[in-house]
Amino acid sequence: MTPLVRLSGASYAYEDGPPVLSGADFAIAEGRSLALLGRNGSGKTTLMRLLSGGLRPVSGTLLLDGSPVTYDRKGLTRLRSSVQLVVQDPDDQLFAASVEQDVSFGPMNLGLPREEVRARVDAALAALDITALRDRPTHLLSYGQRKRAAIAGAVAMRPRVLILDEPTAGLDPDGQERLLEVLAGLSGTTVVMATHDVDLAFRWADDAAVLTPSGIRTGPAPQLLSDPDLLVSARLRPAWSPVVAAVLRAHGLLAPGATGPGTPQALAEWQAGTASGTGGADAVGDAVRDANLG
Ligand SMILES: Nc1ncnc2c1ncn2[C@@H]1O[C@H](COP(=O)(O)OP(=O)(O)OP(=O)(O)O)[C@@H](O)[C@H]1O
Ligand SMILES: [Mg+2]
Repeated sequence: MTPLVRLSGASYAYEDGPPVLSGADFAIAEGRSLALLGRNGSGKTTLMRLLSGGLRPVSGTLLLDGSPVTYDRKGLTRLRSSVQLVVQDPDDQLFAASVEQDVSFGPMNLGLPREEVRARVDAALAALDITALRDRPTHLLSYGQRKRAAIAGAVAMRPRVLILDEPTAGLDPDGQERLLEVLAGLSGTTVVMATHDVDLAFRWADDAAVLTPSGIRTGPAPQLLSDPDLLVSARLRPAWSPVVAAVLRAHGLLAPGATGPGTPQALAEWQAGTASGTGGADAVGDAVRDANLG
């Protein structure tokens, strides 16, 4: 299947800087959540800006639905009606006086009828659970609320791909969970997220892309993020879940091939369940698997 967005043989360097990407191939498959991981300065933001047309590769090609993107007004409009980037700092994204004005800006710029703009804004505010903040000045919102408002502005564009640069950074644990729920509820939108959080990527993403000094490694998230050597080479922490699953398996507490708990909370819930009296490794394995799903 043709990837929705693809960078082919792309190289990029900032003026007077060393190459950030050299001959990189990178694809976003429709319908598969994708986590982009890498240490500070590894090129996550640069890659996201290349994918959303904010930067133009020095060599190589950006393709949308298999056809090359042109960097004129028409080409960039075509790209941006499919691909929306939300930058890391909401203060770089928000600019209008109120939340509603900010979220309406993009749809209004598309030249949509007033009722359609209104419907999109209502839906985006509801999706991000910020309807109550509609008339509030953006600069008086909390950081987490500003993050949500910035994402709502992109959601209101109804993109096919939503690219989020570190959307969970600076959010408290509850805020992170709520954001993941919001993203799961965006049916029909493929979400790409940059993060340093290997554990979050492990349990959220279908696919992962890890930026290493020797290039970008991509693959299904459970496999890629269970590879300690790869994570070390990218200077990332090992993921928690596969380590715990390996320990549980070694003690006969998890069936081979079964998925372990995704979070410490899921492990604690399983522990509480077993303490109240289930027996046998199979039952425990089932319990762990259930805990992971829950
Ligand atoms: N506007 C710029 N001008 C010059 N160099 C830049 C610019 N933006 C980024 N760089 C350089 O490009 C490299 C990649 O930076 P980038 O911001 O893409 O990394 P990142 O993975 O997003 O990092 P972080 O985790 O800190 O956000 C870094 O070496 C950085 O110093
Ligand atoms: Mg960055």
